[in-house]
Amino acid sequence: MERLFVLGCHGLLGQNLVRLAVQHQPVIGVDLQPVTFLDYPGFEYRPGDLTDSSLVDIIREEQPEQIVNCAAWTAVDLAESEREQCWRVNYEGVRNVISGAQLAGARLVHISTDYVFDGTAGPYREDAVPNPQSVYARSKLAGENLLRGSNLAHCIIRTIVLFGKGVDVQRDFVAWLLQELQEGREVNIVHDQVGNVTYAPLLARAILQALRLRLDGILHVGSQDCLSRLEFAQLVARVYNLDQQLVKPISTEALGQQAARPLQGGLQVADSELRLEMVFDTIASSLAAYKEENPHTHRLN
Ligand SMILES: NC(=O)c1ccc[n+]([C@@H]2O[C@H](COP(=O)([O-])OP(=O)(O)OC[C@H]3O[C@@H](n4cnc5c(N)ncnc54)[C@H](OP(=O)(O)O)[C@@H]3O)[C@@H](O)[C@H]2O)c1
Repeated sequence: MERLFVLGCHGLLGQNLVRLAVQHQPVIGVDLQPVTFLDYPGFEYRPGDLTDSSLVDIIREEQPEQIVNCAAWTAVDLAESEREQCWRVNYEGVRNVISGAQLAGARLVHISTDYVFDGTAGPYREDAVPNPQSVYARSKLAGENLLRGSNLAHCIIRTIVLFGKGVDVQRDFVAWLLQELQEGREVNIVHDQVGNVTYAPLLARAILQALRLRLDGILHVGSQDCLSRLEFAQLVARVYNLDQQLVKPISTEALGQQAARPLQGGLQVADSELRLEMVFDTIASSLAAYKEENPHTHRLN
């Protein structure tokens, strides 16, 4: 049975991927912490840092057949002032992952982002021309380009605004919004950022399917439909029976986030659904699944 190596296994996507994959195959997880709080039969953990060349040795020692890189610098606004740290993980780190994968002879799935596009004409096809607008976005595109220039069997999966549950992960948009609304606070939500927000378990399923089918090239994985962030917040309020009047519209310009965001963004997914032999969920059905999911937000040890 093929062994799967998950880089960034403690992150939102990494945890969702590990939880699904261990049901079918042995999984080795890597993240920055010295020990793991994940506890599944068939799961092993090795501390490791993408930016350290010792990662290459770890991958060579373990000889996995499959690697998924979910690790990244994901603090989009902070990246504007911490440019070097962001590039070290999202660019130099990817170089180490590629070297390790080459030595192990492993197939690599690398996770990227809709932020590689400028958001003037979304939703974007897989072959649309990128035009990143922030430090984070440029570093992610540079990571993609490293892979494209390598001779490694690989697939780049771009995704968009993840929501989902996990142990000790940074609160996603939905969890943040629910807390604000449940405590009766008004929230300002941008009405001019549009995209197909994605449920992390859907992406985890797509990653495993891409590995199973040995797909190469670029895939787009996101919900079937696009909503503005404001519409998404209103949907969350409706689904959880909370006061929609607390959700107030604001423009991206007025919100003044440090890093530029794609406005008319989103990923076209029809071609990737065909290649993956999957039908992706709608935002509403993903939100219903999210609501049913166990909260699971504390460490297990
Ligand atoms: N979340 C989104 O909305 C979104 C949207 C589009 C694309 N993506 C992409 O999807 C992927 C997964 O995102 P996510 O939301 O799961 O991210 P996440 O929750 O931030 O998880 C990333 C994980 O990687 C770890 N990590 C960071 N630097 C590392 C390093 N140098 N070596 C080893 N591990 C390191 C992080 O540890 P620490 O937490 O300790 O730093 C964290 O556990 C990323 O490639 C991201 O760019 C995410």
